[in-house]
Amino acid sequence: MHTSHKSHWQTLWINIHLATMNDGSNSYGVIEQGALAISEGKIAWLGKEQDIPPFDQHQVEVIDGQGRWMTPGFIDCHTHLVYGGNRANEFEMRLQGKSYQEIAQAGGGIVSTVTATRKATEAQLLASALPRLMALHREGVTTVEIKSGYGLDTLTEIKMLKVAGQLAAKLPVTIKRTFLGAHALPIEYKDQADDYIDLVCDEMMPKIAEQQLADTVDVFCEGIGFDLKQTERVFSSARSYGLAIKVHAEQLSDLGGTALAAKYQALSSDHIEFLSLDGVKAMADADMTAVLLPGAFYFLRETQLPPIDALRKQGVAIAIATDVNPGSSPICSLQLMLNMACTLFKLTPAEAIAGVTCYGAKALGLSASKGQLTVGFDADLACWNIEQPAELCYQFGVNPLSSLFKVGIKVL
Ligand code: NIG
Ligand code: FE
Repeated sequence: MHTSHKSHWQTLWINIHLATMNDGSNSYGVIEQGALAISEGKIAWLGKEQDIPPFDQHQVEVIDGQGRWMTPGFIDCHTHLVYGGNRANEFEMRLQGKSYQEIAQAGGGIVSTVTATRKATEAQLLASALPRLMALHREGVTTVEIKSGYGLDTLTEIKMLKVAGQLAAKLPVTIKRTFLGAHALPIEYKDQADDYIDLVCDEMMPKIAEQQLADTVDVFCEGIGFDLKQTERVFSSARSYGLAIKVHAEQLSDLGGTALAAKYQALSSDHIEFLSLDGVKAMADADMTAVLLPGAFYFLRETQLPPIDALRKQGVAIAIATDVNPGSSPICSLQLMLNMACTLFKLTPAEAIAGVTCYGAKALGLSASKGQLTVGFDADLACWNIEQPAELCYQFGVNPLSSLFKVGIKVL
């Protein structure tokens, strides 16, 4: 294993089993009876405890892992956790027989959250988002993606992204921001979707790019969202500003949004329950990550499973995320998503854990620095009170997190 100069180490973990997650999705990349050294916020050395090179006992803080397990800090690569209000009323309506689409078409759904989000002040949005982020963090999450998309006007989209940025000062979590102006059609643009897309591309995007409020752009490509032509306009505008691309596609129907995103070298396509084999192949060719969102599948009582076997056969990386949002997944638990990825989507525990570590990182364009226990990677580390990694997926409700390190510093 690699070493850096011994005197540079600040912390050395010993007596710890490592699930490095750097071996591909069918394996945890286990190093039993391992050790891991941290230097300047990065992983400086890891390997078998018996192979630790000589180090200066007086300079290095040694932590006895007491036979626990360590994984990379978890990554939740798809959330909408900044929003105003909630949609418990809609949840009730759905239980009285209305569908998610019917509610959206009748002016509820995303648009009702837009009204509440426009009304909320930055401080109110921050205060309501913080407990959601805290809930994720307590379960071992050290990196979170947050989308805009409940403003649908320039001011509120910017307000959401600013709040998302402020969250990073409140908790030791890396926040990646995504501009989702094309999430739904605001009422003031009823029957004028193309004009709204003009606003997204010609006014919102330049401002957001210029103020560096997001580095990625997302579109909800769907019957109740935007069609392929509109989606493509947003992608091409994003590319002209040098922003990365993601898509919400094939969630409720197969419009071809994923294949379009592949043409634009998107990082990921998310949801994809209705994705065809051709769509899967397009993802493989473009090295896109498939982000599966079992919380939305569960909460909307969907029955169409994502094409897991085809994704496996074509070698597409699979990430798992919460999709935290008020309409389709009001669930702030990535640990529950691990369980659901296995029970609902039949992923193996190793695949599920890869989905919140190495492939969560890949979905965010962070695979060179996060999501693996690898020398040179950020020392975002979760230490777990478990006897084997599969327990992270198997049991739910007893948080097994023992401690959490963010860039080498103990934060929980
Ligand atoms: O990821 N699909 C579109 N966007 C969200 C749902 C947003 C909402 O219903 O508020 C999702 O499921
Ligand atoms: Fe989403």
